[in-house]
Amino acid sequence: MNKILAFETSCDDTSVAVIDTNYKVHANLISSQTTHADFGGVVPELASRLHLKNIMKITKAAMIKAEVDFDDITAVAVSVNPGLIGALLVGVSFAKSLAYSLGKPLIAVNHMLGHIYANKIENPDLEPPYLALVVSGGHTELVDFKSYDVFKIVGRTRDDASGEAFDKVAKLLDLGYPGGPIIDRIAKNGDPEFVDFPRAMNRKDVYDFSFSGFKTAVRNYLESHSPDYIQEHIADITASVQKAIIDSLVSKTINYARKSGTKNIIVAGGVSANSLLRSEMQSKVKKMGAKVFFPALEYCMDNAAMIGAAAVQKLERKEFADLSLNAFSTKGVRFI
Ligand code: KG4
Ligand code: ZN
Repeated sequence: MNKILAFETSCDDTSVAVIDTNYKVHANLISSQTTHADFGGVVPELASRLHLKNIMKITKAAMIKAEVDFDDITAVAVSVNPGLIGALLVGVSFAKSLAYSLGKPLIAVNHMLGHIYANKIENPDLEPPYLALVVSGGHTELVDFKSYDVFKIVGRTRDDASGEAFDKVAKLLDLGYPGGPIIDRIAKNGDPEFVDFPRAMNRKDVYDFSFSGFKTAVRNYLESHSPDYIQEHIADITASVQKAIIDSLVSKTINYARKSGTKNIIVAGGVSANSLLRSEMQSKVKKMGAKVFFPALEYCMDNAAMIGAAAVQKLERKEFADLSLNAFSTKGVRFI
């Protein structure tokens, strides 16, 4: 059985995983950098330094957990874009050195494709064509995959990403970072109809997203109510915020799926952990006789298992990177 040692350091999680070519995860360790919470967002230099400090330790721990040594590893995989450049460079340099010293092939993985392939861990037989809704802290994209390497981005955000919208609203409400999981939890006890926040670009044939007007509407709402009132209705306000963001993600995905006749929809990226997104998508997709797939909760946020999962087919096709491999901060879903 071929095993891949995979690295993910694109943002504020240092993660190392061992996954085999049947998509079985033998270890997936994630060290989340809590330091950034004090700053209300990720501080790039701190992120790079913490990756550098921890990557060796986490690699050793992941290999112990997976009960493998370097001889059992067939290839080394690493996310190379998009992300914070300094953070990516730590993972890429480390993976390159390891591949070189072990004499094993190196596989470059696009982080967003990693999120998409996280779905393979639960559903190894899932193959394109499918429509992917990619929703994270930096991305909101609707990607129509005809095959694994023929795809078209049919919708994208014109400003903030959906995860960013959760994070920014959480910051306005002083709830902490990252905002998505916190809002998801508080919103469970609230009334989603309490405030009718705007859904931008709400037209049937428009598949692009926009969240900056929504963010301004939330800010205006908060400025026009007293802190006591906001505190008293925090569950209702967060539920309304969540509903507005999720409504826009679900309606555009469903509209495009109907138009294109897509039968399989997959959701990927940190926001795919959102409970309302999961339930709304399930019920809408069921009505149209299609299927929707989500990664298991543990593979929604940044992790190296998804990077390994995206490397499996590349290993099978022998699509290896050479040792001049570089990292890129550039956005977007593309193959390297
Ligand atoms: O994919 P990810 O871990 O990192 C990036 O590649 O950006 O996504 C992080 C984003 C953050 O914006 C976070 O607030 C959001 O995913 N997120 C959620 C939930 N869990 C994470 N958003 C809404 N609901 C959640 N349960
Ligand atoms: Zn991510």
